[in-house]
Amino acid sequence: MLDVTRPWLEVETFALAFDGHEAFPDEGCANLANKIIDEFSKSAKTLENLTLTELRACLFFEQRRCHHSYRATSQNRVSGYCPVCLPSIRWNHIFADMWAVFTDACMAGPIAHHRMSVVAAISKYDNVAYKRRSAQMKGNAEAGRSAYGAASMKATEAFVPAPQRLFEDEIVMDFLPRPVQFLLRRSAIRAVFLSLLEASAPGIRGAMLCRTRRIDDAVRNAIHQGLPALVILGAGLDTRPYRFTESADVNIVEIDLPSVQEFKKTCLLRKFGALPSHVRFVHSDLNTEQLDTALETGRLNSSKPAIFLWEGVSQYLQPNAVDSVLASISKRPKGTVLVFTYVLQEVITGIYRSDRSEAFRKSASRQPEPWHFGVDPRQLRAFLAARGLSLRHDFGAEEHQTDYLRPVGRILEVSEIERVAIAIV
Ligand SMILES: C[S@@+](CC[C@H](N)C(=O)[O-])C[C@H]1O[C@@H](n2cnc3c(N)ncnc32)[C@H](O)[C@@H]1O
Repeated sequence: MLDVTRPWLEVETFALAFDGHEAFPDEGCANLANKIIDEFSKSAKTLENLTLTELRACLFFEQRRCHHSYRATSQNRVSGYCPVCLPSIRWNHIFADMWAVFTDACMAGPIAHHRMSVVAAISKYDNVAYKRRSAQMKGNAEAGRSAYGAASMKATEAFVPAPQRLFEDEIVMDFLPRPVQFLLRRSAIRAVFLSLLEASAPGIRGAMLCRTRRIDDAVRNAIHQGLPALVILGAGLDTRPYRFTESADVNIVEIDLPSVQEFKKTCLLRKFGALPSHVRFVHSDLNTEQLDTALETGRLNSSKPAIFLWEGVSQYLQPNAVDSVLASISKRPKGTVLVFTYVLQEVITGIYRSDRSEAFRKSASRQPEPWHFGVDPRQLRAFLAARGLSLRHDFGAEEHQTDYLRPVGRILEVSEIERVAIAIV
């Protein structure tokens, strides 16, 4: 943990471990830092309202300012600012650290993070080699952290009494690193973790568990209707291809970033001794590569409809990448089904309609993978229609409560900020 009494050099190293220009492109980082420094001169409380990303961007920018301008002047300015900024960052980091320990315990994540900080300490920030190596490590360590997070959350459902359990997933626990399994199996540790999570991001667990059940129902329904293929975009550690007995006759293509997919294949080999023959693995970065290409590589039959599953992924893509994915799906044969989740646009824009979104945004800003895309539910139908898809269902917290939780008397808060939609070509 960073000690604010340590020399400025250490603060600089910490500041540069985050790229403020990447988080707030163009003049965004400078504008934010200048605005905050002005407001800070009037009230130190200004910092309390900032997210972790904003705090880190401000600290980053002050380091850059010191580096490029007359040091004494800059340091005078910074001396009043960083001592207040750093503890705020520290408290914001506590939750993220716990989550990382919980989900990453024995994986490449912490090792790569440690290596990154060592590299950062011994390299000059502007050094090209450092930038390249840090980007590579970041890619491996962070790209799929959300996949481990989603899987950990799903694994907790196995400990809920059977009559109230939303879904059965006996496989997902085996996909988690052993230390995480060990922690998850301890009811006291689980309870502390879940209550911290609930306090920090109310309803996020409920939303993830209910979306899993909702999507299970939708995918099973589509398979029963005879759709012969299932494509899972951003599959992460999704276990549906291995726990749905009906899926053995369905051709399945799993698409994800290379590092996440390699990790999953290792888990599958460990569990089953071989990769299941009904699943093809295609790695693709949907932000930069075309879904059409990935589908060709996965040998998806282009003359038959398929089910596309896109759970917990669209928010990580740039809006133009979302358009490109939807354009590719809309070209598939009539009867093709898309089951997907999306977050409310207000979480992305920062113009909130409810406190709930604000709480969730703070939580999202602590995640290593930033969110870029959301939709206003009132515009979803038109949004999809403009992209060649027809909206069939759009489920939110209220529908989840009515369909799944109230009937079994389960009290679980469900966040309103993520919804599950079903559309067809
Ligand atoms: C929250 S996880 C969801 C995983 C899985 N669908 C589930 O619900 O359990 C998000 C997934 O999206 C993947 N992802 C994020 N950005 C991506 C991109 N640009 N291209 C492909 N996959 C991506 C991540 O690697 C991760 O597996």
